[in-house]
Amino acid sequence: MLRQEKPILCMEGITKIFPGVKALSDVNFTLRQGEVHALMGENGAGKSTLIKVLTGVHNLDGGTILFNGKNIEPKSPLDAQNIGISTVYQEVNLCPNLTVAENIFIGRQPKKRGSIDWKLMNRKSQEILQRVNLDIDPTKLLSSYSVAIQQMIAIARAVDISAGVLILDEPTASLDDNEVKQLFKLMRKLRDEGMGIVFVTHFLDQVYEITDRITVLRNGKLIGEYETSELSRIELVTKMVGREIDEKEHSKQNKRVGASLQRMEENFLKAVGLGKKGTIEPFDLEMKKGEVLGLAGLLGSGRSETARLIFGIDKADDGVIQVGEKEIAAMYPKKAIEQGMGFCPEDRKKEGIVGELTIRENMILALQAKRGMLNYISRKEQEEIANKYIKMLQIATPSMEQQIRNLSGGNQQKVILGRWLATNPKLLILDEPTRGIDVGTRTEIQKLIRTLANEGMTVLLISSELEELVACCDRVIVLRDRSPIGQLCGEDISESIIMKTIAGGGKNVS
Ligand SMILES: Nc1ncnc2c1ncn2[C@@H]1O[C@H](COP(=O)(O)OP(=O)(O)OP(=O)(O)O)[C@@H](O)[C@H]1O
Ligand SMILES: [Mg+2]
Repeated sequence: MLRQEKPILCMEGITKIFPGVKALSDVNFTLRQGEVHALMGENGAGKSTLIKVLTGVHNLDGGTILFNGKNIEPKSPLDAQNIGISTVYQEVNLCPNLTVAENIFIGRQPKKRGSIDWKLMNRKSQEILQRVNLDIDPTKLLSSYSVAIQQMIAIARAVDISAGVLILDEPTASLDDNEVKQLFKLMRKLRDEGMGIVFVTHFLDQVYEITDRITVLRNGKLIGEYETSELSRIELVTKMVGREIDEKEHSKQNKRVGASLQRMEENFLKAVGLGKKGTIEPFDLEMKKGEVLGLAGLLGSGRSETARLIFGIDKADDGVIQVGEKEIAAMYPKKAIEQGMGFCPEDRKKEGIVGELTIRENMILALQAKRGMLNYISRKEQEEIANKYIKMLQIATPSMEQQIRNLSGGNQQKVILGRWLATNPKLLILDEPTRGIDVGTRTEIQKLIRTLANEGMTVLLISSELEELVACCDRVIVLRDRSPIGQLCGEDISESIIMKTIAGGGKNVS
């Protein structure tokens, strides 16, 4: 449907310069009432920066912003909110140890005779939640609900405060299919009520499912604005990356076949009866040298938990791990690193980056731990490592001395990947390695995984993207309800068979 509503937001000639980086140059962006508008571009293209100048996180170096025809210059997110522009980020920025109602009314609690009117606050919260179709108890702690629900609560709060513009910066990254559906239902409802919604995501399917128009940025410049229905996926990707790429280009040809597959016999690691009560049922697992083993399953099926047990982040209360011939009584991360293992976690903010350190410093952390703290890595070697992986992973940065917190989300993730590659691991565990990574680089990383495996590295790959498992894996283990329920090899690894196995009724563990 073509929406001809009037613009609620007009950003014109927007320029933002950071030391060494022109993050935005002369960008125009128009948002209409009653539309969902995708903001697309590769990692570092300037999407989050555009949002941050709009919401007063950063000041402008040039350009104007019109909101409902009036000039605005938000000085802070709160200021933007008061004007009518609310943002919900991927990381929910609410307080887990307050109740849902308290979170909805933070900073604006209704008062009665000088103290908080709890009754009124809880009742109003109920109404606000109902508006976004959430039937939950506002007096419960926020932390008692899933990330998806928390995100919807954040949206409910945002919507209640200001009904003009809602900005969602990669809100779906950690949601499962069902939760995404719920979120989209809400977005449609709000759109139909006349709200303008800006939606940032790296999932193309979602763009085509939910958005009316698309604005594409590349290297901080505006490439164009399009009706979603008039722009094919290939055209969109080409505009984002600035060159022709085949979105379906799978590195399948790089996979082992026939004799070469047969030769992959030697185990790198074997787990017997490994398990942890309440987390994952005891399971057996073998990982061959040079194999890419995939873990498939729904969110909460036990994929990350399996990886965390193997690397010793969580302690197993059952079973043993054997690395080569050696039996390891109790695995813990330092030991795992000594054994040649690396672990690239899913939650980079919490377990990955050290914001104040530079790219170079972040990149050598794991190698330094592996060599021991007394065995200082020379500045020269540090620089060689940083240079190598900045190039290999195409990290967009003016310099290796840039603080990592100043990189775009996707580029931060690449640094963490580089950190583990630098240890030259024999087993690399990758938990959702391409989440938040743009389509072009995603294909590159998948190719890299295959190349490393063909050179002898063992890779344990956790991914919600079936395409990614199909592209990379020699073998896939499917988990359901905290147990492995199926195993697929070679030609059997297809999206439809993985799906069937996840749903039940697929191949059984042999
Ligand atoms: N506070 C900052 N200081 C210095 N440079 C910054 C800062 N914030 C962003 N940049 C740079 O500006 C550019 C645009 O980054 P931005 O975060 O807007 O990208 P993005 O399009 O959101 O990418 P992603 O998809 O990876 O999230 C990047 O080169 C980034 O390194
Ligand atoms: Mg971003």
